[in-house]
Amino acid sequence: MPSLFDPIRLGAIDAANRILMAPLTRGRADRDHVPVAIMAEYYAQRAGAGVIISEATGISVEGSGWPFAPGLWTVAQTEAWKPVTEAVHRAGGRIVAQLWHMGRVVHPLFTGHVPVSCSATTAPGKAHTYEGRQPYVAARPLELGEIPRLLDDYRHAARNAKAAGFDGVQLHAANGYLIDQFLRDNSNFRDDAYGGPIENRIRLLGEVTQALIDVWGADRVGVRLSPNGDSQGVNDSRPDLLFPAAAKALSDLGIAFLELREPAPDGTFGKPDHPPVHPLIRAAFAGPLVLNSDYDGERGQAALDADEADAIAFGRAFLSNPDLPRRIAEKLPLTPNDMATWYGPGTAGYTDYPLYEAA
Ligand SMILES: Cc1cc2nc3c(=O)[nH]c(=O)nc-3n(C[C@H](O)[C@H](O)[C@H](O)COP(=O)(O)O)c2cc1C
Repeated sequence: MPSLFDPIRLGAIDAANRILMAPLTRGRADRDHVPVAIMAEYYAQRAGAGVIISEATGISVEGSGWPFAPGLWTVAQTEAWKPVTEAVHRAGGRIVAQLWHMGRVVHPLFTGHVPVSCSATTAPGKAHTYEGRQPYVAARPLELGEIPRLLDDYRHAARNAKAAGFDGVQLHAANGYLIDQFLRDNSNFRDDAYGGPIENRIRLLGEVTQALIDVWGADRVGVRLSPNGDSQGVNDSRPDLLFPAAAKALSDLGIAFLELREPAPDGTFGKPDHPPVHPLIRAAFAGPLVLNSDYDGERGQAALDADEADAIAFGRAFLSNPDLPRRIAEKLPLTPNDMATWYGPGTAGYTDYPLYEAA
């Protein structure tokens, strides 16, 4: 079985090791969702990851509702990503852009419009906005006639990701955002071709993935799913049936890799409410499978040894340990991360986490 330090090809993307950086929203872009200079430094510091999956990046005004999160729908955003991807490449790394439409969790304060979703539902809790935490508002269902425009928005952002110098894209189909709102049965009440049976609920996932493939080729498109447990109020009664079917559809499209955020029962970032789904997905998906949530070096290697995964994505550990692969290799202590600085602003808790130095 491979070691975490063996190289791996994810489609056409050559990763030097199997320690991927999971997507981490950091809220350091400007108010127009344009990346800023410190983001190049931050990502370059973490270029030792086999592949960096970028923080979730908006595909459109309609899909973006996180303060100071970056986008990829304007020329200014696209241009400002170039120094980031160049810095990562100069440091020997690879970086893919995680493409994001938040669906019902976009607060109208960002867009001036009620959010769109699969069905007329309201996310629980409150949104982060520039005016503090605000209760979510009811979404309106996307009309059938709007789906082609949505696919165009994804294609447009995918083309911009290419122009910006990324090595590929990852579709954010996890964590209760738009695609996940279509996938799971407590947020999808449609009675058209996108609702009801599983083959219909996975339709949008397949169409959006195909749209990204149109731009990039399948070997540079990844997808992220969160197959087990509530995400921002989105959940499913039979993930053991839904997600293997989704994985099979993605397998048939030949995508470069599939990444899963699936917490274990002792998970500290979400909780599962079903037995593990990843073994069922492993059986349904022929390409490289990446697992995430609460892994450390030991657990990650054990997952590779058991052939549960081909690579592991590390989130919070990368946030506070820019040299994470070295620390795992040499069993060095990890620096804890500070939640207070997860979402900015500024360089504190962002670019100032040190490389390991022996005391
Ligand atoms: C600060 C922070 C920001 C996150 N942002 C994203 C994101 O933009 N996209 C995404 O898919 N997941 C996001 N996540 C989830 C992580 O990718 C990952 O699934 C989670 O941290 C669990 O993995 P870990 O135990 O290795 O940290 C975020 C998590 C944290 C802590």
